[in-house]
Amino acid sequence: MASLSRSGGFAVKVITGAQPHTNFVAVSPASTVTAAREVPAEFTTAEARQDAVSRATSGVYASGLAVKGINVTSRRFAHTDVSFPDFSAYRRDSTKNPQVPARDTEDQRRALSSALYYGAGGVLSLWAGKEVVQTLVAYKAMAADQRALASIEINMNDIPEGQTKTYEWRGKPVFVKHRTKKEIAAEKAVPVADLRHPQHDDERVQKDEWSVVIGVCTHLGCVPIANAGDFGGYYCPCHGSHYDASGRIRKGPAPLNLHVPAYSFKDSTIVIGSS
Ligand code: FES
Repeated sequence: MASLSRSGGFAVKVITGAQPHTNFVAVSPASTVTAAREVPAEFTTAEARQDAVSRATSGVYASGLAVKGINVTSRRFAHTDVSFPDFSAYRRDSTKNPQVPARDTEDQRRALSSALYYGAGGVLSLWAGKEVVQTLVAYKAMAADQRALASIEINMNDIPEGQTKTYEWRGKPVFVKHRTKKEIAAEKAVPVADLRHPQHDDERVQKDEWSVVIGVCTHLGCVPIANAGDFGGYYCPCHGSHYDASGRIRKGPAPLNLHVPAYSFKDSTIVIGSS
């Protein structure tokens, strides 16, 4: 006679094709098997069991019966009183509706991470670009010692009236002449039309008392001698060029007047190299 055992905590699933048995064996641990009873008439034949299994298995579980035969393949714990936890409080609103495809809410769900990704990436890119430009500019910039030579300041009090002093600026000599009233008057009176390189004195000085010129002869580049020559200005001994007190060529082979550098007056100094 077949028998059926019941365990309190679980049920056994009977599958199609079950065969008649002389005994049913409890599947729960022996200690939990509480009773055995006759197999109900509905399970006595293979067809009956087939029919029972084909029906909703909930009836088997609900009965609290556990059966096992050669065709029992699985079991499950029947903790049906445990409710599934609700995680909705932790889920994004966009994912709560199971009917909405995930791809439809993809943009919403990725908004923050995309903003962080592109925002941080943009900031890092800008910073890296700034570093590169800064490095290149610093690399190409003039060295500190060259910058120091870019302009020089000359104390005007160091040059008495009637004297000329020579300074070095960007590797060239610069003549700074403190002219007397007599020299100023003489240079202003020179007829411009008679000059080889016609320039009025007013075009070559910012203040009548001060004449600033590059001390390089415009013939072949010698350095003239200050306060010398037939015109009281500069004399180039290389080939005999004479310049006046405004630095204009008056005699000799030089074709042009001495160049006037960019300069400006600042308090009691002359800044050569800035205009
Ligand atoms: S280089 Fe000055 S005159 Fe020739």
